Amino acid sequence: MVSLDQLVEDAKRDFAKAADSAALEDAKAQYLGKTGMLTERLKALGKLSPDERKSAGAEINLAKTAVEDALQERRQALAEGVLYSRLAAEAIDVSLPGRGQEVGSLHPVMRTWERVETIFHSIGFDVAQGPEIETDWFNFSALNSPENHPARSMQDTFYVDCNDAQGKPLLLRTHTSPMQVRYASEHVKKYANAAVMPPIKVIAPGRTYRVDSDATHSPMFHQVEGLWIGEQVSFADLKGVYTNFLRTFFETDALQVRFRPSYFPFTEPSAEIDMAFSSGKLAGRWLEISGAGQVHPKVLRNMGIDAERYTGFAFGSGLERLTMLRYGIDDLRLFFENDLRFLAQFSA
Ligand code: FA5
Ligand code: MG
Repeated sequence: MVSLDQLVEDAKRDFAKAADSAALEDAKAQYLGKTGMLTERLKALGKLSPDERKSAGAEINLAKTAVEDALQERRQALAEGVLYSRLAAEAIDVSLPGRGQEVGSLHPVMRTWERVETIFHSIGFDVAQGPEIETDWFNFSALNSPENHPARSMQDTFYVDCNDAQGKPLLLRTHTSPMQVRYASEHVKKYANAAVMPPIKVIAPGRTYRVDSDATHSPMFHQVEGLWIGEQVSFADLKGVYTNFLRTFFETDALQVRFRPSYFPFTEPSAEIDMAFSSGKLAGRWLEISGAGQVHPKVLRNMGIDAERYTGFAFGSGLERLTMLRYGIDDLRLFFENDLRFLAQFSA
């Protein structure tokens, strides 16, 4: 039988030879397992006399501790080895250039939004924003669309499960026109004590919502409202301002604008503004981009404005439609699918 010292040496050597933790656990079993060499020796103690048992037991236990220490040491070394080799394998060269270096860019509809603001700002229009969750009053009634009036069904509305102070359900605004009344009423209050009320000149871009979905209609879309009220602001001014806006926006005079008679409860007379390019890929194709008209006297009164003294025009244009025409896009749903192959074409 080999000496205990030899046994310890053998164990150390076997442990050192184990290349991974599975091999190490196998080696351990040979010494410390149920039938391992040290275990067998401990079992054999029972056959000795009490005196012999005491001294032999102490020696075996010493050897066992030595083997256990060696095992623990090797376990640790193996674990560290795994860690270091992983670190080496996954080393990062911090001096390499990154891969995700593409710079994001504005969504094409947002580009249109900003462009529209810049153009109208340059001719003296203020820019205002208002709530997307509206009251029945601002979205409909104040705009001369009384309850149960058939004109309300022109805009299929999303209602919110919550009532306003009048007990009417709140809704997602179907157009930016409520901003006409919101902005103008504030303006009137602000200049209540002034000798003359300065003209109201504002655009209000923002998100709008309708139960609508096809190649030229989306349930969420963007409009920009325009409003100019003063003494003697006429339909001719509307035509001039809007046509000039389109020429500036599209950077060309080669476009046709058509004011097609229409109906809105809040304007009289009312028109749809259609446009078509005179040349290029889209030449001759008419697309409706805006509703417009002279602000209805009832709406002026709801704003707190003297309808005998002041007149003005309003328009509400679709930002998606303007964007489609600018870039020659024929399906508006592309704007909302978030396909980077599509969106990346607009990064400048
Ligand atoms: C209106 O919303 C009126 N508030 C416009 C207005 C303002 C008239 C001021 C008079 C005075 P209309 O429903 O036609 O009108 O919508 C205006 C424009 O919004 C349309 O010409 C179109 O360009 C755009 N539009 C309407 N519905 C959608 C939709 N579902 N998806 C994308 N664009 C839309
Ligand atoms: Mg329309």
